[in-house]
Formats: sequence, C-alpha cells, structure tokens
Amino acid sequence: FVAKRLAGCKVVLTAGPTFEAIDPVRGITNISSGKMGYALARACAQAGAEVVLVSGPVALPVPVGVRCVPVAGARDMRAAVLAALPGAQVFISVAAVADYRPLEVAPHKMKKKDDVLTLALTQNPDILAEVAALPDAPFCVGFAAESQDLDAYAENKRSKKRLPLLVGNLVQDGMGAEDNLIVLYDDAGRHPLPRASKSELARSVVEHLASMLATVVR
Ligand code: PMT
Repeated sequence: FVAKRLAGCKVVLTAGPTFEAIDPVRGITNISSGKMGYALARACAQAGAEVVLVSGPVALPVPVGVRCVPVAGARDMRAAVLAALPGAQVFISVAAVADYRPLEVAPHKMKKKDDVLTLALTQNPDILAEVAALPDAPFCVGFAAESQDLDAYAENKRSKKRLPLLVGNLVQDGMGAEDNLIVLYDDAGRHPLPRASKSELARSVVEHLASMLATVVR
C-alpha cells in the first residue's frame, strides 16, 4: 500500500465528537464514533507520517505510532490543534465539532424545576476555518457531514474555507458505522469512492492526499 508516501511529513488530525458541558454531569455531544478519524490517523502513520491525533471522547484504541491528545470541548480541541501545528504540513479535520456550546456551565448539577427549560447556546470557534486562514497554513483537508444535498453543501464548504481537498459523506451512510460512502472534492472535480470499510477508505484518501502533496511546491 501507500509505501511510505508520507515519509518526513507531519500530520495533525482531529477526530470524534466534542463534548460541551452543561453542568458537571451533563453535556451536548453527537454520534461520531471517531472510527473515520482514527482510521485516517492509522493510514497516515502507516504511510510514514509523524501523526498527532487530537481526539474528542471516543472508545477506540490509539493506533500504533500515533500520538493522541484527548480533549472534550471545541475550545480545548482548538488549543490542542494550534499547539500541535508547528512543523505540520497537513491538517485533516475529521472531528464532528459542535457548532454551539452552552453559554454558561452550571457549577453544580442542575435541578428539575419548570416544565420547559431553555438553554442559551453560543457559537464555538471554527477550528478548520481558522487553521486554513493562517498565513503559514498547512495543506488542509476538510470533511463535510450532511443529511441531504451532499454535492452542493460540500462544494460550498470547500470554497468558503478555501480547502484544496474535502471529503464529503452523508451521515446516514456512515456516521458511527464500520464502513462509509465518501466523495472527494478538489479542484479537478468530484471523485466518488465505492462503499468500503473506513480503513480501506482511509488508505484511498491518503493515496489521493499524497498525490496532491507531490504536486504542491512548498
Ligand atoms: O466518527 P465516525 O462515526 O467514524 O463518523 C465520521 C464522520 C461522519 C464524523 C466524518 O466522516 C465527518 O464527516 N466528519 C466531519 C463532521 C462535521 O462536523 O462536519 P461539518 O460539516 O459540521 O464541518 C465541516 C468541517 O469543519 C469539518 O472538517 C469539521 O471538522 C470542521 N469544523 C466544523 C465546526 C467547527 N466548529 N470546527 C471545525 O473544525
């Protein structure tokens, strides 16, 4: 396979969900299992890269040869990514980062009171948008998880964040599952891949990424 095509390359990835605390025992999260991000981290390490995986809370073993930085909320994830970035040529943003977090975190367990409870939310930082806009930005690979109109939303996310490569998928096709159905989007167009295990897909993404990197003069 990808015979050490990423040798000498440092890759930072995010994976899994984020967990945004409401009080000491509750929080907002999502159904990302981390499987896609961990498979990519493993494939990058197998391709010879130095890999730092910034991971939200998941129940997966850390792949061999990968340094894992566990985090909870989007703001912790952002800080860990920025700390890991120096020297990185590639950033792959697989995490399902919560767009919003509770405006306030209750210091003690909240008590049941009224029939309706309203939770005020505030926007989280967009980690990928921030990294892609850095003056010395690494080669950024984004993901888009949609429940409909994949092509339109994915292309829109790629152009808004000015990403050379984006991986699109429908949540019903693979979020939380062992396999997935993905489409790669780059300047050359859309490249649909056949349904496969996340490990196989990760190897295909790494092949595509390595070919693109080979043409980028850095
Ligand atoms: O973990 P699995 O169960 O294996 O499922 C894999 C997956 C479905 C989570 C994965 O394939 C995937 O699509 N990940 C991206 C999920 C997502 O949140 O997409 P988005 O369209 O909301 O975000 C677009 C991009 O911006 C993503 O690269 C995301 O990591 C990034 N982002 C989003 C919001 C935010 N505040 N910061 C970010 O960095």
